[in-house]
Amino acid sequence: MGRVALVTGGSRGIGEAISKKLKADGFEVAATYAGNDEKAAAFTNETGIKTYKWNVADYDASKEGIAKVEADLGPIDVVVANAGITRDAPFHKMSPEQWKEVIDTNLTGVFNTVHPVWPGMRERKFGRVIVISSVNGQKGQFAQVNYAATKAGDIGIVRSLAQEGARAGITANVVAPGYIATEMVMAVPEKVRESIISQIPAGRLGEPEEIARCVAFLASDDAQFINGSTISANGAQFFS
Ligand code: CAA
Repeated sequence: MGRVALVTGGSRGIGEAISKKLKADGFEVAATYAGNDEKAAAFTNETGIKTYKWNVADYDASKEGIAKVEADLGPIDVVVANAGITRDAPFHKMSPEQWKEVIDTNLTGVFNTVHPVWPGMRERKFGRVIVISSVNGQKGQFAQVNYAATKAGDIGIVRSLAQEGARAGITANVVAPGYIATEMVMAVPEKVRESIISQIPAGRLGEPEEIARCVAFLASDDAQFINGSTISANGAQFFS
């Protein structure tokens, strides 16, 4: 049996590509989703990867869901905190609800996903924590005060976890995608999206599989000494 990997938001977008790649690399994969039952069922049909439905913003639901995954597949060795949402608005129009929703899902969601698996990783002296951040957490973004705060926060979480986990054989790293061809980016108004693409030296959006390959490397046994790092995959849009 291969190692067990949990991918939150793992049935769509970048998460879908990560789930598929980890499965192809021999992991037993569990993918979570929040709401889209139809897409999750189609994903399981296509890939054979089991999906689990819970809201990462809810600690108790995460803990319970993770216990179920571990009962089904065994102890989780690799956790990919990928689930995330946008609620974009210029700051003067951003509501406290838009702020809170994004913080709860994207930032507290990382705590809720990693915290329940951390004690087991410490006991077993092996673990991989991979958090999906964003170029917009590195550089900031018009209309994304909420989202950029969470994605910058990912880097602080990982750098702290790396120090706590290193002697227990656990690594924690960030992958910071640039603009990737997913529904999230396609939801940006076309004119704005075109202007963003024009600022990417590669001249194109990234593909979800390009992010999945970074995650797969960090998840591998070969990456043991890479700890607390941020891998940027953004077509040279931004250097940090
Ligand atoms: N930079 C500078 N100005 C921008 C801008 C930008 N990136 N985006 C919008 N604007 C400007 C518009 O041109 C417009 O200016 P004018 O009024 O002079 O024409 C103004 O902002 C829009 O103001 P509004 O008050 O009308 O804005 P709105 O309330 O309708 O909100 C918006 C529009 C939500 C900002 C919309 O333009 C938008 O979604 N922008 C894209 C934001 C973005 O890039 N999000 C990233 C999503 S992808 C992602 O998050 C994945 C990832 O990790 C990379």
